[in-house]
Amino acid sequence: MSSLLVDNIGELVTNSPGGDGPLGLRRDAALLVEDGVVAWIGPARDAPAADRRIDAEQAAVLPGFVDSHAHLVFAGDRAAEFAARMAGEPYTGGGIRTTVGATRAASDDELRATVRRLHAEALRQGTTTIEIKSGYGLTVADEARSLRIAAEFTEDTTFLGAHVVPAEYADRPDDYVGLVCGPMLAAAAPYARWVDVFCERGAFDADHTRAILAAGQAAGLGVRLHANQLGPGPGVQLGVELGAASVDHCTHLADADVDALAGSATVATLLPGAEFSTRSPYPDARRLLDAGVTVALATDCNPGSSYTSSMPFCIALAVREMRMTPAEAVWAATAGGAAALRRDDVGRLAPGAQADLMILDAPSHLHLAYRPGVPLIRQVLHNGVPS
Ligand code: NIG
Ligand code: FE
Repeated sequence: MSSLLVDNIGELVTNSPGGDGPLGLRRDAALLVEDGVVAWIGPARDAPAADRRIDAEQAAVLPGFVDSHAHLVFAGDRAAEFAARMAGEPYTGGGIRTTVGATRAASDDELRATVRRLHAEALRQGTTTIEIKSGYGLTVADEARSLRIAAEFTEDTTFLGAHVVPAEYADRPDDYVGLVCGPMLAAAAPYARWVDVFCERGAFDADHTRAILAAGQAAGLGVRLHANQLGPGPGVQLGVELGAASVDHCTHLADADVDALAGSATVATLLPGAEFSTRSPYPDARRLLDAGVTVALATDCNPGSSYTSSMPFCIALAVREMRMTPAEAVWAATAGGAAALRRDDVGRLAPGAQADLMILDAPSHLHLAYRPGVPLIRQVLHNGVPS
């Protein structure tokens, strides 16, 4: 058994009982890792001996970020679409079909190289758990290979065959929903943990969404969905009704949507990178938190609406633009993401948890929002292994 001591931690965010406040903060702490798992946490002066030692030099140490919403399997980019938006064009989601064309034309190795690049980029910025969706293939074979490639990088893979109706089915959307619920789901399910639908005007309506999510549940997949991103709609309440782990975006909410979330175990995952990149109004995180809703933050990393893999950037946006406190935003990017993926082995640091953590080049978690755009992640450990 090999052991590693992370010692001389100025501020340790545990998201666990035994520390101060909702982040479970401990000062002058140490953390022992054995075989990739946290074995002990306590005052630095009581630290046990270990085979190896990392001196945190009084810096802050946090659980690795849990990015619970990312679309990494795609080809090409849409920089020109971004430039057009910044010159005044609206975002409609119509560009998804551009990426579908590029993705279908790409080889497995090209898609794998893109996922590898973005996965490594995220890890360097502190993300140690990431969910990866399909959704740019939209044929049986292309959705299955997207998920097969995603599963090489994460356990949290999501089947998003219902991202948009592809061009070849434009005049017969019911037939496309039949394909998604039948052969496409059958081919995707062996590689997927979750099923997701883009429930939005111009994508899938409530009846289609319900049919696809029910079929996914019957195939053993957990439910999550894209809801209320571009306008009000039925998605959030449908997600709560179906016991979704998370409803994502939540930008346009009615009081009844907030009430439904507050009385449920469904997490509201906010994706401020999308509002940044589409120049849209941000979701009202304060309203959700004050109502008692569990909030997560994620990147939505994709080539259209949010081409960032940076959880620190999302934290800074959430604090500055969405009225979250720095502590709420850090919790949402770690423990909140874990709740959105229904995982209790990540997003917190306590004995038994996965040894996923980051050492900052800063004395406190506050600096993640206070020093936006600055590369503050000094070192990342994933399963106790420094990268
Ligand atoms: O979460 N809204 C749907 N899907 C993505 C955008 C995909 C794209 O524009 O390529 C999102 O924002
Ligand atoms: Fe998304």
